[in-house]
Amino acid sequence: MKPNRWEDHYARLARDENWLARSVYKLEEIDKRFKLVHKDDRILDMGCFPGSWSQYGLRRVGPKGEVVGIDLTQPDQSLSSNFRFIQADVLTLDIKWLVEEVALRDVVISDLAPQTTGIRSVDTSRSMSLARRAAEIAYAVLKERGHFICKVFEGEDLNHFRAETSTHFRRTKLFRPTATRKGSREIYLVGLEFAK
Ligand SMILES: C[S@@+](CC[C@H](N)C(=O)[O-])C[C@H]1O[C@@H](n2cnc3c(N)ncnc32)[C@H](O)[C@@H]1O
Repeated sequence: MKPNRWEDHYARLARDENWLARSVYKLEEIDKRFKLVHKDDRILDMGCFPGSWSQYGLRRVGPKGEVVGIDLTQPDQSLSSNFRFIQADVLTLDIKWLVEEVALRDVVISDLAPQTTGIRSVDTSRSMSLARRAAEIAYAVLKERGHFICKVFEGEDLNHFRAETSTHFRRTKLFRPTATRKGSREIYLVGLEFAK
């Protein structure tokens, strides 16, 4: 198979710039566009492995901010003293427990993605379950006027998901970063200014 030109470009750039994954450029583009992450912020990063979004968050929030990452898999390197990792399945995680551990968050980011099967309807439905769960967790831990970024695969439920989330945020946007792989159906829902 012919390699994807953009994949090569971003993968090479990530290696050169010491990021743990090429997906960092998607978060960077979303953040630059919507101005979501600020110095001293407290971030929750769901689906954080291998860790590039958490790395990016840590750089943006600085030493007084904090990033908590959740994933099934532990990142290889300890990222920073103001990074905390929780090894868990978000689908079964006790949200009440999480609120006690990490609330309140300025920004919740979710790059959660299922193991893909290649069967479009199955992958889309699994991605939507993760996105809905990420939103449920975001509503529990976000500060008033906090922000939410959530990956989801495009499918028939996307408009419904956006309509659900838009009742919790002042504005919602759907955004497809340039670094998204060609042919990928992923898109990011951005929720701006959480209204409790
Ligand atoms: C695309 S990767 C995230 C990449 C990450 N944002 C980065 O930049 O390094 C998606 C992650 O979602 C995690 N994931 C999928 N389902 C999960 C679940 N139910 N609970 C926790 N993590 C899950 C996977 O383990 C995987 O590491």
